[in-house]
Amino acid sequence: MTAGDLLLKIEDLKVTASVAGVDTDLIAGVSLNIPRARIIGVIGESGSGKTTLARSIIGLLESNVRVSGGGMTLEGEPLATARDFARIRGAKVGLIMQEAKASLDPLIRIDRQMREVARQHRDRTASIGVAGHADLLERLGFLPSDIQRVMRSYPHELSGGMAQRIAIALALIPGPSMLIADECTSALDVTTQAEVVTVIQGLVTDLGLSILFVTHDLSLAAGLCDELVVMHRGEVVELGATSSMISAPEHPYTQSLLAAR
Ligand SMILES: Nc1ncnc2c1ncn2[C@@H]1O[C@H](COP(=O)(O)OP(=O)(O)OP(=O)(O)O)[C@@H](O)[C@H]1O
Ligand SMILES: [Mg+2]
Repeated sequence: MTAGDLLLKIEDLKVTASVAGVDTDLIAGVSLNIPRARIIGVIGESGSGKTTLARSIIGLLESNVRVSGGGMTLEGEPLATARDFARIRGAKVGLIMQEAKASLDPLIRIDRQMREVARQHRDRTASIGVAGHADLLERLGFLPSDIQRVMRSYPHELSGGMAQRIAIALALIPGPSMLIADECTSALDVTTQAEVVTVIQGLVTDLGLSILFVTHDLSLAAGLCDELVVMHRGEVVELGATSSMISAPEHPYTQSLLAAR
C-alpha cells in the first residue's frame, strides 16, 4: 500500500473508561491501516470493543471514556483534539447507525433534512458524481418514479430499509471519504439487508469510499468485506484478507467464531 492509498491509520490506540474512579481499558492497543475504497469488517462477540473503536474514530466517546494512548491520522492529518474531530465528523467520516430512524428527525420531511445537511456541511454531492439529491437517491436504489414521494415523506412513512438508505444518503451529502456502519443492517430482515449491502458495495466500487463495517454477523461480513478485523476483549486478535481468514483462520478465537457460524 502506498501512502496515497492509506486513508486512516490507527496506531496503538488505547481507550479507557473510568467508572467510580476505576479505570478499565476498553481498547487495549489497536493498530489498523484502512486503505481507500475497501470494505473492512470489524467482527467479534458482544462487548469486544467494536462500537468503542468505531466511536473513537469520529471522537464520539461517552463522557467517562477517553483516548488514553496511541494516535490516529486521517489522510495524513492527526485526529487528536476536539477540533480535529469536529472538522472530520460528518464531513470526511460519516456514521450510519443500527436504528436509521433514530438518526432522522421524525418531524421533518426527507427533502428538508437533505437540504439541512447540505446547508450545515458544504454540499459536495457533486463530488460523488451525482447531480443532486434526487439523483443521489436513485444511486441508492430508489425507483425514479418513487423519489418525489420519498422526498416528501416523513421518516415514519418509510420502511426500515428505505430509512437506512436515506440515512446513508444524508451521510453522503458532505462528500465523505469514509463511512462507519455500526450494525447498520442488524435491525433489517434478510431481503432488506441484501438491498442495503448492495448499496454499500456500490459506494465502494463507484465512489471509492471506504467502509468500516461493524457487525457480529460473520456470514454477512464474510460475503461483503475485503478484509476482516477480529476483536476480542478490546484487542485485535487477527486481521487480514477475508478469503484467507475464512479458509485458514490463525487465531484460536477466530477459529472458534468460524466454528460457531
Ligand atoms: N461508557 C462506558 N463506560 C464503561 N464501560 C463501557 C462504556 N461503554 C462501553 N463499555 C464497555 O466496553 C466494552 C466494549 O463495549 P462495546 O460497546 O464497544 O462492544 P461491542 O463489541 O460494540 O458490543 P456489541 O456487539 O454488543 O455492540 C464492554 O464491556 C462495555 O460494557
Ligand atoms: Mg456495538
